[in-house]
Amino acid sequence: MTNRIWNFSAGPAVLPECVLKEAQENLLSLGNTGIGICEHSHRGKPFMAVAAEAEALCREIAGIPDNYSVLFLQGGASLQFSMVPMNYLTPEKTADYLVTGMWSEKALKEAKSSGKTHIACSSKDANFNYIPASCQYSEAPVYVHYTSNNTIFGTQFREEPTNIPSSAFLVCDASSDIFSRPIDVTKYGLIYAGAQKNLGPSGVTLVIVRKDLVEAGSKSLPTMLQYRTHSENESMYNTPPTFGIYLMMLVFRWIKKHGGLAAMAARNEDKAGRLYSFLEQSSLFRTTAQKDSRSLMNVTFVTGNEDKDNAFIKAAEAKGFSGLKGHRSVGGMRASIYNAFPSEGVDALVQFMKDFEASA
Ligand SMILES: Cc1ncc(COP(=O)(O)O)c(C=O)c1O
Repeated sequence: MTNRIWNFSAGPAVLPECVLKEAQENLLSLGNTGIGICEHSHRGKPFMAVAAEAEALCREIAGIPDNYSVLFLQGGASLQFSMVPMNYLTPEKTADYLVTGMWSEKALKEAKSSGKTHIACSSKDANFNYIPASCQYSEAPVYVHYTSNNTIFGTQFREEPTNIPSSAFLVCDASSDIFSRPIDVTKYGLIYAGAQKNLGPSGVTLVIVRKDLVEAGSKSLPTMLQYRTHSENESMYNTPPTFGIYLMMLVFRWIKKHGGLAAMAARNEDKAGRLYSFLEQSSLFRTTAQKDSRSLMNVTFVTGNEDKDNAFIKAAEAKGFSGLKGHRSVGGMRASIYNAFPSEGVDALVQFMKDFEASA
């Protein structure tokens, strides 16, 4: 393909080109089956092999131990905002939330329907432009929930929250930085991520959940909302998002081929580093997130003048840089540079920004 442009969309986002090409071929016939990937029964051997490989690669890449279930669900990360509290929070219990952006606020809101909630920290006082240095937990929370990367505000936790009360398990919404760096799954009770940034297309949500928690989840929920349903049926209780799982498998192969999560992390640091070092010395642009909290996935920046921001976005669009408009709650620009975003695109953007600055 020659007509692809630089896509900085926050999600759905750019996917590896080789993955798209392979998918393109397999849309007509998965291997030599004569049936396209979207047309295969989820109970048939060819798709079962795809699902098994997707799970095996996911486990291998992230070092997921056997006492965790790997689930491919639907309903997006947003359904997990509800499923987590519905399964584990009751009116007598408290769940702690680290509120570092709009998505964690949404997760918190859903938890309020199931039980008590406590805000262990918040960066709302500065429009979520930083990751709080410490948390004040409630006495005995059932779980502690945080958002590892704040897609809208361009901030990211460097590491997992520490000193979690012993009563609690850690829950992470990792939608916008899953598999962008190595992860110690054993620190978590449950990790979830919508696929559409680092893993594949929208429509499939990866959930990694400790098996004792699968067992401990509420039994009085509708069947589809219980983790045990999906765990016991290997994500095939109902028709799973077959194409999404297939594409995720291809992305996992791509991650493995390119050196796994350590290599992804090095690449991501390098890419974001190029943008941030330009922004640090720019006389026109500045980042919105505080330095020690900056995201390697979503780089948010402004000129400080809305008209100039809009002029920049328009000029960028005309040169084939798409998706740079920031979220309305931050304004300015946002360059989303997930795993699959090529470093050449980052260099091209930096050069374009330099030229724009020189002509401004
Ligand atoms: C961190 C984070 N959490 C949750 C969501 C919501 O995901 P979904 O649209 O899959 O429900 C998003 C979407 O951008 C996100 O960035």
